[in-house]
Amino acid sequence: MNRRGVQRFRQALISTVGSVKIKLVLGFCIGFTVIALAGRASEFMGWTSHTASLERFSGSRKGYAIVMNTWKRYDLLKQSISHYSRCPRLDSIHIVWSEPNPPSDSLKKFLNHIIELNTRDGRQVKLKFDINKEDSLNNRFKEIPDLETDAVFSIDDDVIFPCSSVEFAFDVWQSASDTMVGFVPRMHWVDPTNGHMDHYIYGGWWSVWWTGTYSMVLSKAAFFHKKYLRIYTNEMPASIKDFITKNRNCEDIAMSFLVANVTGAPPIWVKGKIFEIGSTGISSMGGHTEKRTHCVDRFAAEFGRMPLVPTSVKAVDSRNIWFW
Ligand SMILES: *[C@@H]1O[C@H](CO)[C@@H](O)[C@H](O)[C@H]1NC(C)=O
Repeated sequence: MNRRGVQRFRQALISTVGSVKIKLVLGFCIGFTVIALAGRASEFMGWTSHTASLERFSGSRKGYAIVMNTWKRYDLLKQSISHYSRCPRLDSIHIVWSEPNPPSDSLKKFLNHIIELNTRDGRQVKLKFDINKEDSLNNRFKEIPDLETDAVFSIDDDVIFPCSSVEFAFDVWQSASDTMVGFVPRMHWVDPTNGHMDHYIYGGWWSVWWTGTYSMVLSKAAFFHKKYLRIYTNEMPASIKDFITKNRNCEDIAMSFLVANVTGAPPIWVKGKIFEIGSTGISSMGGHTEKRTHCVDRFAAEFGRMPLVPTSVKAVDSRNIWFW
């Protein structure tokens, strides 16, 4: 190519790049206009006010209480509390404390301060420590005598869900208040290698993802009625409770069994964004599935039958879906 040819080629290149850019910009403009018009149209039709009122329509009813399990991870606890205390319909937070030493004054002061900062419309979230002498995973399901709300949101200190997800799950729970409603589904499978039908395998995240089927939602992030705290405390067989204390595992499976035994129905899995802020949970430790499988088998034997009911229903917020 001679010099003139190179120049012409350059010009052509610049102009095509230019036109591509212009097309992109035009495309964005059209896109934005459509979205803006759509927004206007729904406003015009009186649609947005409905969406807004959905957030508040149950405002006169009671909210929910968070029961948070924690263990010597004060930074996570502070992070979680400062997040959840902003959620609109949260009424109170109960921190399940099973450490040998009571919570320090500085920790209490810090948490109370955060909650005061997040107070809006004069509605302050109540914060309580439920202090336990014994260190047991059963503590997270102890009956709470002064609980003012029917709804309990049971949550670990190392997982964060946006308030919008929590409040949506609360809406789902309100339409099925005997049911467990949660974000982390798990499954029990009949063991195919065993001739009998009474051996099971615990199905983790992958098997739920692959099959779309589940029969439990874990109490690390789930709503349930407060009556199940009473039933767990008073009616769960002592052998199961002892097993849980000794093995430091499976209290969540036991709660799923308990609720299913009462309702005879599956739980409800709610779609929600999850942010894990702690790095190591027991689920990342070796032999996890085998231990959980053992729990499912053992609890089924203890209950005298398998109460868990599989389902493939999933609740999603239809406001966040464009195509259906
Ligand atoms: C399961 O439900 C049955 C029937 O309602 C009841 O008799 C039994 O005590 C329950 N089992 C447990 C372990 O709660």
